[in-house]
Amino acid sequence: MIIAVDGPTASGKGTIAKALAAHFHLPHLDTGLLYRAVGHQCALSGGDPDDPEDALAACTFAPELLSDPELRSEATGGLASRVSIHPAVRQALFERQRSFATQPGGAVLDGRDIGTVIAPEAEAKLFVVASVEARAQRRFLEMQAHGRDASLEEIAADLAARDARDKGRKDAPLAAAADALLIDTSTLKREEAIAAAIAAVDALVQSA
Ligand code: DC
Repeated sequence: MIIAVDGPTASGKGTIAKALAAHFHLPHLDTGLLYRAVGHQCALSGGDPDDPEDALAACTFAPELLSDPELRSEATGGLASRVSIHPAVRQALFERQRSFATQPGGAVLDGRDIGTVIAPEAEAKLFVVASVEARAQRRFLEMQAHGRDASLEEIAADLAARDARDKGRKDAPLAAAADALLIDTSTLKREEAIAAAIAAVDALVQSA
């Protein structure tokens, strides 16, 4: 079974995808991490993330980069969103995601275009959303917990800018597949969101 979990930054899709993978005993791929690695590599090489050639050159990042804690930073998230606009970058990362999705036994992938482009045949597609306020508040608490200084207003503005870029790009924009089930986590606690996602996947699989 392939489970596609898409949605904007800080919607809870990563937490949900990990929990679904554990519950259904499936391997999990956080596809955002691949774009983050490209964005970070591009910066390390002194490239311009808005330049398609510089961004494409960064797709040959070393595998160790995927475990660099810097990939989790807000700054790298912004770089990832910028390099992800380029069709050549999306193409370069396509095969890796596609072969993970189609491995025997199935997989859970989370990202922006899993249900629409990477695995449109997925048996279960979830689109996880939450209000900008709820997402900014979560990010704010996360950053505080890691001892990082941040302002709620700045985080909200950054999230809104990334949403606009991810939704507005021509190639594989952030969008719910027509057959995706929407989960709004704005008012849900972590465990409630996970329970809702498991119930949704069970329902989708039973009705298939
Ligand atoms: O999920 P995330 O915040 O780690 O993703 C970082 C950026 O990567 C996001 O703003 C857009 C891009 N991305 C994408 O274009 N397609 C995906 N499947 C996953 C992420």
